Amino acid sequence: MKIVFYSPEKNPQLWLEELRAVLPGAHVWAWTPVCAERQADYAVLWEPPPELFPSQRELKAVFNIGAGVDGVMKLPNLPASVPIVRLNDAGMAVQMAEYVCHALLRHARRFDTYEVHAKNREWKREPPIDRVAFPVGVMGLGDIGARVAQAVAAFEYPTFGWSRTAKCVRGITTFNGSEGLGEFLRRVRLLVCVLPLTPETEGILNATNLSALKPNGYLINVARGKHLVDSDLLTMLDSGHLAGATLDVFRDEPLSGGHAFWDHPKITITPHISAITRRAESVLQIAQKISALERSETIEGAIDRERGY
Ligand code: NAP
Ligand code: GLV
Repeated sequence: MKIVFYSPEKNPQLWLEELRAVLPGAHVWAWTPVCAERQADYAVLWEPPPELFPSQRELKAVFNIGAGVDGVMKLPNLPASVPIVRLNDAGMAVQMAEYVCHALLRHARRFDTYEVHAKNREWKREPPIDRVAFPVGVMGLGDIGARVAQAVAAFEYPTFGWSRTAKCVRGITTFNGSEGLGEFLRRVRLLVCVLPLTPETEGILNATNLSALKPNGYLINVARGKHLVDSDLLTMLDSGHLAGATLDVFRDEPLSGGHAFWDHPKITITPHISAITRRAESVLQIAQKISALERSETIEGAIDRERGY
């Protein structure tokens, strides 16, 4: 079995070693333009360059080392008949649940305000919160979103979820489809985006949808930067309809030094770290999926090209 690896940001050596350890006997190498003609059965990659797919003519499947496949799907020369497979959770859902709960609690429990008080050596108590006043809505109830919604619900915040098709998630009131979106948004004060980026979801965090949230709303975007219309967020924050935002993802990453988000007092920024790909879990999952494909079994995580996720 021959496996080619590519990632612009990960240390290829560590991934090659881990893949060789779980798939003994496999020939595994890192793709470079120099060795482009060496043909592989499987590609394991993140944000490949456009030259990679035309050079690989014998691929049986492509494994994306992340949950979101938008970086792969946008490539013009993606081979039409080769399955594209994403990671299912692989240790990311629990990280995302931590991140979202941290951002939610920091805002709702006013830890951000207490940080300011402490800096000023002020012993000052804010009024206690009423959870009912902080209903949380999670857009996307997949491997990661469902875990996030359940983590939020465990803290007894009223929790709502929205997905494309109808979903049943314990403890969560769910809505689905474009017909359910308005009612979902109207119930919510803290909105969390965990959607895949597709033609249908691009720009979904726009003025129309953000203004449907309850007053003093709050946005947590951990999905993709292109879900958010940046200028609409700034308008909604400046009008006071939104009280703040925690953003982990941006239209252009790294976020440029001159972007208005950096200096905005109501925006908290992190550098796309809400759920980091875990190498050991990811490699093990990919190896299990490759072995299943070799046995002609169906696997989880194969992308539906029509839906885009
Ligand atoms: P997933 O399992 O495929 O779940 C996607 C969810 O979104 C599903 O519930 C799906 O609905 C829903 N959805 C898709 N299109 C929709 C639409 N048009 N309207 C309403 N709902 C829609 O994906 P996942 O593994 O949870 O990952 C979600 C995303 O998180 C990834 O695509 C990636 O962009 C992002 N992510 C970010 C980081 C980070 O570090 N910032 C890390 C990992 C992932 P159905 O259930 O009906 O199919
Ligand atoms: C990271 O952003 C991922 O999609 O896994």
